[in-house]
Amino acid sequence: MVDERSSVTNHFLSAFLLAIIFWNNIQCSAGKGLIMDFSNRFLVKVPKNLPAQMTVLDLSYNSISELQISDFSSSSKLQVLILSHNLIGKLNFSVFQYNEDLEHLDLSYNNLQSLSCHPVTSLRHLDLSYNNYVDMPTCPEFSKMLKLEYLGLSARRIQNSDFSVLAHLQLETLFLGLEDLSEYIHGNLPVFNTRSLQIIFPPNNDYQVLPDLEINVTESLELSNIQETQVNDLRTFLLKLNKNSTLLNLTLNNIQCDWEDFIEILQTVWESTIEYFVIANASQLEAPNSIEFKYTKTSLKALTIKQTTLTTFRSDAKYLLQLFSEMNLTALTISDAGLIHMLCPSNPSHFTYLCFSNNSFTDTVFQNCKDLMFLEKLILKSNQLKKLVRVSLMTSHMASLKYLDMSLNLLQYEDHENKCDWGKNLVELDLSFNKLSESVFRCLPVNIQMIDLQNNQISSIPKEITELTSLEEINLASNKLAKLPGCGQFRNLRFLNIEMNSIVSPSSEFYQTCQGIKQLKAGHNPFTCTCELRQFISLQKQGSMELVDWPDAYVCEYPDYLRGTLLKDFHVSEVACNVSLLITIVIIITVVLVATASFLCIRFDVPWYLKMMWKWTQAKHRIRKSNPEDLLPNIEFHAFISYSEHDSEWVKNVLIPNLEKEDGSIRICQHERNFVAGKSIVENIIDCIEKSYRSIFVLSPYFVQSEWCHYELYFAHHKLFSENADSLILIVLEPIPAYIIPARYHKLKALMAKRTYLEWPKEKSKHGLFWSNLRAAIYVKLSSNEEERAFSLS
Ligand SMILES: *[C@@H]1O[C@H](CO)[C@@H](O)[C@H](O)[C@H]1NC(C)=O
Ligand SMILES: *[C@@H]1O[C@H](CO)[C@@H](O)[C@H](O)[C@H]1NC(C)=O
Ligand SMILES: *[C@@H]1O[C@H](CO)[C@@H](O)[C@H](O)[C@H]1NC(C)=O
Ligand SMILES: *[C@@H]1O[C@H](CO)[C@@H](O)[C@H](O)[C@H]1NC(C)=O
Ligand SMILES: *[C@@H]1O[C@H](CO)[C@@H](O)[C@H](O)[C@H]1NC(C)=O
Ligand SMILES: *[C@@H]1O[C@H](CO)[C@@H](O)[C@H](O)[C@H]1NC(C)=O
Ligand SMILES: *[C@@H]1O[C@H](CO)[C@@H](O)[C@H](O)[C@H]1NC(C)=O
Repeated sequence: MVDERSSVTNHFLSAFLLAIIFWNNIQCSAGKGLIMDFSNRFLVKVPKNLPAQMTVLDLSYNSISELQISDFSSSSKLQVLILSHNLIGKLNFSVFQYNEDLEHLDLSYNNLQSLSCHPVTSLRHLDLSYNNYVDMPTCPEFSKMLKLEYLGLSARRIQNSDFSVLAHLQLETLFLGLEDLSEYIHGNLPVFNTRSLQIIFPPNNDYQVLPDLEINVTESLELSNIQETQVNDLRTFLLKLNKNSTLLNLTLNNIQCDWEDFIEILQTVWESTIEYFVIANASQLEAPNSIEFKYTKTSLKALTIKQTTLTTFRSDAKYLLQLFSEMNLTALTISDAGLIHMLCPSNPSHFTYLCFSNNSFTDTVFQNCKDLMFLEKLILKSNQLKKLVRVSLMTSHMASLKYLDMSLNLLQYEDHENKCDWGKNLVELDLSFNKLSESVFRCLPVNIQMIDLQNNQISSIPKEITELTSLEEINLASNKLAKLPGCGQFRNLRFLNIEMNSIVSPSSEFYQTCQGIKQLKAGHNPFTCTCELRQFISLQKQGSMELVDWPDAYVCEYPDYLRGTLLKDFHVSEVACNVSLLITIVIIITVVLVATASFLCIRFDVPWYLKMMWKWTQAKHRIRKSNPEDLLPNIEFHAFISYSEHDSEWVKNVLIPNLEKEDGSIRICQHERNFVAGKSIVENIIDCIEKSYRSIFVLSPYFVQSEWCHYELYFAHHKLFSENADSLILIVLEPIPAYIIPARYHKLKALMAKRTYLEWPKEKSKHGLFWSNLRAAIYVKLSSNEEERAFSLS
């Protein structure tokens, strides 16, 4: 019973705390409220120096035995103080005199034996239950706490005048934990004036409290631990509730009764003002063979029977089931009752809500049932249904059905099975925790808006399925999906949950078809952190799609060296992933390099240098290879120079000085200088050419037009000249346009066309290379006697 009670308290507390925490978070962000949680810390005293801004202080589950004014005097903002499950023996309410905002004080489960009273007028919630009192721990000052909404009390003895103080209070909820009651004097209960009253009777002792129970304005009554001997008192009490009663909600927990008592209680409630009736944890009820129940006019709207096994060992289950199916209420819940079936009502029934969770229903339930046309919500969670087709056929007659919960069954659907036929208005379907495979997508209601398919065996979403245009939410968590699916068949999807699958990477289809999704829950999948995942990670940054539980739930699984890395921290560059981008970049770089090279070439005339270097190298190579014996015997000069008169200045001042360096290693035959008297100019020239290793022609337009003819004859005779073009060096001093060369000069044209000439560079910087190249081209080792001869000649 203590469990029962504490679970009630805990529920209330957690709801309250949640509200407080929520509220407080807002306060926190405004820089105000503060929650301090010191629960379960083995504290023997209230900690010192608590922050003054603190609004919530949780000191539950410690060993605090005493409270002092100084403990809380500085916490002027304190609103919630939880001291349950400690060892406090005495309480002087004056310790809270400085806590003017204190609204919630929980002192349940302590050792309190005495109270020193002082009105804490701000209090709304005061829990003094489960202490060490003999009598009710009340103070006359309570009647001054006009804001009090919740009061929790318990005692071992109920005496006269214990409750007198309550007469003046307008409570929302009064809780009386009387598990340890050991002394009760008949006639000492007041008329309770509270909207909600919860009483826990002693589970084993049988005190006649119930006959004294009177409620005036109570709307909600919850009674726990009703012995078999008290069932009559309970009936008497219920019968007293006449049509003027305000009671709407009645909950009976842990009631020991037989089937006859149960029916009588049910019948009495049926005829009372009660609208919501809950029976929880009644002892096992063995139904008899016939059941008498009068379905008179009733205020009852909802009947809930839970944690109560209804058995039919000795009777026909039909009578038991009929009792409920004919009830024509708005809502009926029979859960944890071990039922194996439920009948279809024999007349059109007004059930809008039916819940049969945690029973043993099979596929036969509500087949062909046409009398549930008002049913909007059907919950068959945790039963034994196997065939999804039959579930769909069951709903086909439920024209109003909007919500169906079939979770935790054994449902399957195979492709070869009959077509499914669902209720036309079904918009929300829970098929979680079944055995469904991907073929389930061929058996879904066309107008479905929300579907829960978590914990099934779906490994893909088939493409050739009917489009579900209304679908907004789908939960596919804990299935076997290997890829983030596309949304082609669900154009209006807003929320997709696919966490805890085997998703390695998203499909390209996902990006193309799932733009409408606002929230995606995809954590706890074995992501492979490669390029493919970049787009997925960027979803979060773009903000178009919210990734729920980002970043903590999104972790790389492969490759091994990235295992455990958050997707948030996984970075890979755009270039490494995008092949076309990579190619583009390579092309751009190449183009830039080529362009730069070309520009540099043109700017610094690199080709010219290269050509010159090449010629120079060739010449050096030739020199190294040649041996003196190969030389023709009559060679005396390194070169003969021919030029036009017009260019003579350049030849004499520039060319010859640069070739004939001081060391005299190069000798030039110049027809004017080395003129032999008695011979004609042409003879002299030819003589010069024959004695020279090379012939240098300084070409310019003038030369071409005036001098070339001198040599044509010679060229005509000297085959060697044409065959061994090596001996000929053309220097183009000024550019020679092709049209200037007379048509008959075939030889010159051919030579020019071959581009085997040296151009005189205009830039000074190139002259050095030009000269060394020219020198190398004409240099050859001449024999010494010839050298002497040449010397004498000059
Ligand atoms: C309770 O505390 C107040 C203030 O400290 C004090 O005046 C009063 O005597 C105390 N009452 C008892 C019964 O100790
Ligand atoms: C019942 O409640 C009404 C309204 O609050 C009040 O006037 C009346 O006195 C109460 N009756 C008893 C017997 O307490
Ligand atoms: C119901 O209340 C009316 C007045 O509100 C009173 O006259 C009548 O006697 C009450 N009925 C019962 C059964 O108490
Ligand atoms: C009575 O029960 C219904 C359904 O559980 C609930 O909505 C309602 O708030 C309850 N009323 C009171 C006064 O507790
Ligand atoms: C159900 O009731 C029995 C006694 O009637 C009690 O022992 C048991 O703890 C109760 N169970 C729950 C869950 O309250
Ligand atoms: C069921 O209850 C509704 C009112 O909620 C009523 O109109 C209807 O006649 C009842 N049906 C039967 C078969 O009693
Ligand atoms: C379902 O009912 C069985 C007994 O009927 C019980 O043992 C079990 O805890 C219940 N499960 C849930 C989830 O309520």
